[in-house]
Amino acid sequence: MNRIHIVSNRLPVSINVNDDQIELIPSVGGLATGMRSVYKEYNGKWIGWPGLASDDIDDKLVGRIEEKLLEEDCISVHLSKKEIDLYYDGFSNRTIWPLFHYFAQYIDYDPELWEAFVGVNQKFADKALETLEEGDTIWIHDYQLLLVPEMIKSKKPNITVGFFLHIPFPSFEVLRILPWRKELIQGMLGADLIGFHTYDYQRHFFSSVRRLMGYEISFNQIQIEDRIIIVDAFPMGIDYDKFKNAATGIFQKPLQEKSKLHRELEKYFLLSPDRKLILSIDRLDYSKGIPNRLRAFAKFLEEYPEFVGKVTLIMLAVPSRGTVEHYVNLKKEVEELVGNVNGQFGNINYTPVWYFYRSMPFENLIELYSSCDVALVTPVRDGMNLVAKEYVASRTNRTGVIILSEMAGVAKEMGEALIINPNNISEIAESIKQALTMPLDEQRERMIFLQDRIKRYDVFKWASEFVKSLSKVERIQNSMHAK
Ligand code: ADP
Ligand code: G6P
Repeated sequence: MNRIHIVSNRLPVSINVNDDQIELIPSVGGLATGMRSVYKEYNGKWIGWPGLASDDIDDKLVGRIEEKLLEEDCISVHLSKKEIDLYYDGFSNRTIWPLFHYFAQYIDYDPELWEAFVGVNQKFADKALETLEEGDTIWIHDYQLLLVPEMIKSKKPNITVGFFLHIPFPSFEVLRILPWRKELIQGMLGADLIGFHTYDYQRHFFSSVRRLMGYEISFNQIQIEDRIIIVDAFPMGIDYDKFKNAATGIFQKPLQEKSKLHRELEKYFLLSPDRKLILSIDRLDYSKGIPNRLRAFAKFLEEYPEFVGKVTLIMLAVPSRGTVEHYVNLKKEVEELVGNVNGQFGNINYTPVWYFYRSMPFENLIELYSSCDVALVTPVRDGMNLVAKEYVASRTNRTGVIILSEMAGVAKEMGEALIINPNNISEIAESIKQALTMPLDEQRERMIFLQDRIKRYDVFKWASEFVKSLSKVERIQNSMHAK
């Protein structure tokens, strides 16, 4: 197989420098956790940003950082504070992210951000072009690098280029709001294969291609002069066995080896066996619908006071994009809501919401997944949502209920979950009641279907399907050029 290089804004590890000590920390987010499990199979490099501003890196350390990253087959694209401000916080997260998640009121239309986006995409493309050798393949990821496929194709037309979008692709009526919509589509069309999580995103993309560029589409192919571009849906999976095995291992640990969190969770249930836990895990992002989740939990306690004192919501919010205004405001809103729920329903022995604003080690995530009776996954928009799949994989006893937003890509694969509209607070509150009182037999029946499906289409299968399609499109291109 050809070497495949990965290009994404964020590397699977981020750098932390402490008194000249260089530490690699795993990056959070679906792209990093998913691709981390597969990229080493491709014998290529992963090109991306290590998470630090280059202005903050001592010149003496640059060489050591690069060496350390290379041990993980990673190559860094260094970004200055200004580039982070204008390209990462800016056009990526203040323009494209809200646009593609249907938050039109949050979009920043500043042309300076666009200029920086073009410049930094070129920087990533140049780094990839330096790394590429004849016969290599390249797989570019996500919305921060929408222009890179075209930048590579125009310099090296013989290189096979794949692109996968990890977030939703919006409908044409939303995309057209953006002054630079044509440029974005043009950039993506540099790829030979374009992948989305769901068929709906693929359909939206086709409609934009047709209406903005006028290209003809037949079945899942776009023909532009002598090139064929294949567009398809590849719903991303998780490393199922990793979660399942870790969850199995946790229950086999002797008491003295259990983490502090695990012992606290066991203590919680010991106080009263009919106590229940609800889990909420996300990056602190406005697309995740966290405020409505808290409102729905409050409504549930109000409507069903017999559960007060017996049900706790564990809310884990991972710090994310903390220098972007709407994320700062969201943090305040969530903290206020948590305070309100705890103030209204709590007492000296009972805290309704346990709120953690931090990242947690993998072991703790597994402990939470395996201990909580219900997972509350209510994004207002989400490309896929891997947390829902990780919860399913960690339920070794096959119980547990997922309350899931119909706006998450993952809902298409999880019909057995309790599906809700994330803006319907009463519906979420009712689903909480239904989940907490669902008979164990019914839980198992639903969970067995979910587990079978998520296990079958795991992250390895997802990646291999994408790579197989890349080889197919490569063969089509070669045969067209041979004619
Ligand atoms: P997104 O990509 O938008 O962040 P996903 O649900 O698809 O949403 O992916 C989130 C990923 O981040 C999951 O793989 C999850 O395990 C990981 N994650 C979420 N919260 C934490 C946390 N507190 N600590 C470590 N990893 C986390
Ligand atoms: C989502 C995006 C990823 C991004 C991740 C974390 O999963 O699709 O591209 O890496 O969020 O966000 P961050 O801005 O910290 O990289």
